[in-house]
Amino acid sequence: MAPSVAELAAINNGADKVAAAKESLKQKEESQIVDAPQPGAAYPFYLPHFDVTEKFLPTEIFEHSDAGLRANPAKPNLLNSNTTLHHLSPYLGTEITGVQISQLSKEGLDELALYAGERKVLIFRDQDFKDIGPDRQIEIARHFGPIQKHPTSGNAKGYPEFHVVYRDATHDRFKEYLGDDRVNRTSWHSDVSYEKQPPSTTFFFILDQPDTGGDTLFLSQVEAYRRLSPEFQKRLEGLRAVHSAVAQADASRRRGGPVRREPVESEHPLVRVHPVTGEKALYINPGFTRRIVGFKHEESEYLLRFLYDHLTKGADFQIRASYRPGTVVVWDNRVTVHSAIVDFDSTFRRHAVRLTPQAEVPIPA
Ligand SMILES: [Fe+2]
Repeated sequence: MAPSVAELAAINNGADKVAAAKESLKQKEESQIVDAPQPGAAYPFYLPHFDVTEKFLPTEIFEHSDAGLRANPAKPNLLNSNTTLHHLSPYLGTEITGVQISQLSKEGLDELALYAGERKVLIFRDQDFKDIGPDRQIEIARHFGPIQKHPTSGNAKGYPEFHVVYRDATHDRFKEYLGDDRVNRTSWHSDVSYEKQPPSTTFFFILDQPDTGGDTLFLSQVEAYRRLSPEFQKRLEGLRAVHSAVAQADASRRRGGPVRREPVESEHPLVRVHPVTGEKALYINPGFTRRIVGFKHEESEYLLRFLYDHLTKGADFQIRASYRPGTVVVWDNRVTVHSAIVDFDSTFRRHAVRLTPQAEVPIPA
């Protein structure tokens, strides 16, 4: 006999209770992920630190003069006879050996800014950077601009300048942020592009890495722009897009994490000009760009979807940066978009630290 309406209601009620219990268990499991790194990190000083009482003042506009503008174009203080250069693609990415970042003079750092702007991504091998201590690391990065203090990510205790990237079997912020029901974990973005003055020459040094995997994908927004027809380029120039920190802050609040500064939204030109190389670049990314200013919703979605498709399918203007002990990757966040590749088993630890100097208010094309 078919169940009565009352019986159906009771069954549904039971199903609701089961669903609620499952949800509660899931939340409990997720909350246990937070702040519980496995023992054995090679550099415990840099383990992610989350203090929900930590607060920052709103970021103020500052004058910026790019280090690359002071550089000698021949780069005699950066590259020498011991240096080997291996270009990964004609458009971006150069692997460098025979240069020690920690030993560079001010002139050498200026030339590093210029070279990072020209090649977009520099992969320095065999660096002692991870062992020179937090104060010296910050001093070097500060040469390029004031260092962004991340509003939500793990930092190092007492050193909010460090943005810690960390994953192991029990600590997986990526999974928490993006969920676990995706067919891939690619997540293209340009770091903190929501800032009024987004970052330029960005440092990323590895502390622990899996035996295989854990690379970073990068693409050139300069080459992505060049591929468009002159007519289409003309249509994009002059447009502005909103970049937002709201989703990132909301995600941190949901997990009981810090929001050290109220989330900001900024309007940036869709095509920006690099202040040193003069190259034009698209400046959008799926991570933080939300809508085109002045367009209706569907128009904005239509254009952004096309541009994201163009960027992410452009394997002929993308590279993968790989990591070995001592690797430091330096990229220019103004002209690149990147994604972590989370292709390694969760029993491996991947631990890295980013220093993110901020630069000029983006220059429209
Ligand atoms: Fe990033």
